[in-house]
Amino acid sequence: MSIINKNWAVGLLCLLFSFNTLAQGDVKKGKLKSMACMGCHGPTGNSFVPSFPSLAGQQADYIVKQIQDFKSGERQNAVMTNIALSISDDDSHHIAAYYQSQIKTPIIKNIAHLEKLTDKNALLSLGKKLYDNGNPNTGQAACFTCHGINGNTLLGFNIPTLANQQPKYLISTLKDFKNRKRTNDIERAMRRIVDTMSDEEIEAISYYASYLTSTLKEKE
Ligand code: HEC
Ligand code: HEC
Repeated sequence: MSIINKNWAVGLLCLLFSFNTLAQGDVKKGKLKSMACMGCHGPTGNSFVPSFPSLAGQQADYIVKQIQDFKSGERQNAVMTNIALSISDDDSHHIAAYYQSQIKTPIIKNIAHLEKLTDKNALLSLGKKLYDNGNPNTGQAACFTCHGINGNTLLGFNIPTLANQQPKYLISTLKDFKNRKRTNDIERAMRRIVDTMSDEEIEAISYYASYLTSTLKEKE
C-alpha cells in the first residue's frame, strides 16, 4: 500500500511543478497592497492569531492559486472570498512575491500553547514518524516527499511550506480537507491522505510540521 502511495505521490509532483511567480510579481508594489492583509496575517505576513495562517516565506505560486481559488469558489471561506474578489490578478502576483520574500518568524515564539499539552514529546514523535515515514498500516503517504524534509518546499513546486505555520491553522485546514469543506487540492492530493488519518494523527503531524525548524532542531 505504501509503495502504491509513493508512486502516485511522485507522479503528482511532476504535475505540481510550475514556473515561479516571483519573476512576475513586484515586491514593492506587493508590500503596499499587503497593507489590507496585515490586520489578520501579521505585519510581515507572520500571523499572531492561531486560526489565521502566516503568509511570510510561503510559495508565491501557492498564494496566487489560493487567491484564485477563493475568487472562483473552489476554496470556500466566508472571510477570504470577498477579500480575494477585491484583489486584481496583477496585484495577486505582486502580493505573493512580497510575502514569499518575507522571513518567517520561528513559531517557537508562540510556544505557550504547546507547553500546555500534557504529553508534548509523545505527540511530536508520533508527528515525526508520520511525517517522515507515512503509515504503512493505513497507507498514509509520507509528507516530506512533497512538503520537504524540513517543512520547506522546493521553490518552483506549487506546494505550500508548512514549517512555522500556525499549528491550529494546520489542524483546521487538514480537518477541512477531511470533511470536504476544503476541496481545492489538485488530483485530491491532500484529501486522499487525510482520509487515512485520525484526528489525533492530524494534530500530531500539524504540531510536528509547524515546529520542524524550531523546537526539534534545537533539541537534536
Ligand atoms: C479579516 C481577516 C483577514 C484579512 C483582512 C485577510 N485574510 Fe487571508 N485569510 C484569513 C483567514 C481566516 C484565512 C484561512 C481561511 C481558511 O481557513 O480556509 C485566510 C487565508 C488566506 C490565504 C490562504 C493561506 C494558506 O496557507 O492556504 C491567503 C493566500 C490569504 N488569506 C491571502 C490574503 C491576502 C492577500 C489578504 C489581503 C489582501 C488577506 N488574506 C486578508 C483572514 C484574513
Ligand atoms: C503528493 C504530494 C503531497 C503529499 C505527499 C502531501 N501533501 Fe500536503 N499538500 C499538497 C498540495 C499540492 C497542497 C496544496 C493544495 C492546494 O492547492 O490548495 C497541499 C496542502 C497541504 C496543507 C495546506 C497548507 C495551507 O497552508 O493551507 C497542509 C496542512 C498539508 N498539505 C499537510 C500535509 C501533511 C501533514 C502531509 C503528510 C501527512 C502531506 N501534506 C502530504 C501535496 C502533498
